[in-house]
Amino acid sequence: MPDRAPELPLAPDGVDPGRIACRILPTGARMPAIGLGTFGSDHYDAETIAQGVLTAAEVGYRHFDCAAVYGNEALIGTSLEAIQRAGVARDEMFITSKLWNDSHGEGEVIPACRRSLDDLRLDALDMYLVHWPFPNHHPPGCDVDARNPLARPYVHADYMRTWRQMECLVEMGLVRHIGTSNMTIPKLELLLRDAEVKPACNQMELHPHMQQRELFAFLLEQGIVPVGYSPVGSPNRPSRDTTPGDTVDTEDPVIRAIAERLGVHPAVICIKWAEQRGQVPIPFSAKRDQQLASLKAIVSEPLNPADMEAIAGTDRNCRLIKGQVFLWEGASGWEDLWDMDGVAAEG
Ligand SMILES: NC(=O)c1ccc[n+]([C@@H]2O[C@H](COP(=O)([O-])OP(=O)(O)OC[C@H]3O[C@@H](n4cnc5c(N)ncnc54)[C@H](OP(=O)(O)O)[C@@H]3O)[C@@H](O)[C@H]2O)c1
Repeated sequence: MPDRAPELPLAPDGVDPGRIACRILPTGARMPAIGLGTFGSDHYDAETIAQGVLTAAEVGYRHFDCAAVYGNEALIGTSLEAIQRAGVARDEMFITSKLWNDSHGEGEVIPACRRSLDDLRLDALDMYLVHWPFPNHHPPGCDVDARNPLARPYVHADYMRTWRQMECLVEMGLVRHIGTSNMTIPKLELLLRDAEVKPACNQMELHPHMQQRELFAFLLEQGIVPVGYSPVGSPNRPSRDTTPGDTVDTEDPVIRAIAERLGVHPAVICIKWAEQRGQVPIPFSAKRDQQLASLKAIVSEPLNPADMEAIAGTDRNCRLIKGQVFLWEGASGWEDLWDMDGVAAEG
């Protein structure tokens, strides 16, 4: 796989991981304030991404965001093993995986987690997320208008059945923390009411054009770490996730002007803003120079208050990952997934 020996544990031009800020989880564990995304968006194959995990580790990343559905955990596992063999201790790394929508049922969660652990060649995960709050799934690459006849709206009792199994994973020591993804305030309120183990983080779409202020503030109030996916605005997302009217963060004149002044790519400004605002960005990149630029941004001088305010003003509430493929027959549109009226749309 690698065409050259990775410069591990840290390349001479890398960023000392000790300089990267951490968010403290309710257990006292430390989550590095930036992680590497590993979803190739149908453009990057598993080998390239696994190689990208190695280059990311050599420039100083210690936090990796994985998921069973990305179809590359087995190859990423070989990279994680190589990183540890080269001298990075397991407890210096923070590794997340996610439960896919086809494994929410009774008796399905623990085997699904074990498969991710085997693939990633780990004894335990630092974080395990319920990827989407629905058991709805579909064949890879299917059309956005396809509806799985078994798909249904959110059912809180079903989610709790899944969550109880997530709690078991913590008891069994297979997972150190559990969390949610793609949740809304109404769904989180129900979960917080009924959970024995509270979610330690919520992974959600966060970038300058999609700031989700209300949910963001709610998470901070509840002591739940907001982890921001698509922090650059996912410029390469699969075409099924593009819709007319979607905006492009890296073309925003405010972001471009700040990037130009500071001599960096606009993507770097999005990542810097995210970390400084208090979320944990997990940018995807398989390119060493981009990975390094994003990491350097985290340890560079803070953006000044005027820049932070100007970027706050670019919010367009532009959701890019709308989740159309998870809709059920009879749903009126992707908005049905996101409880826009403030009530969990329960089935
Ligand atoms: N929980 C969920 O449901 C969910 C959903 C979506 C994503 N995620 C996670 O979030 C991660 C990131 O999201 P994403 O991949 O959608 O979007 P993203 O991180 O916003 O965008 C990734 C793209 O941005 C460009 N980029 C990254 N760093 C850059 C830099 N320093 N300079 C210039 N360009 C840069 C790269 O483009 P080029 O490749 O063209 O260079 C890269 O392909 C995923 O990999 C996945 O781990 C989770």
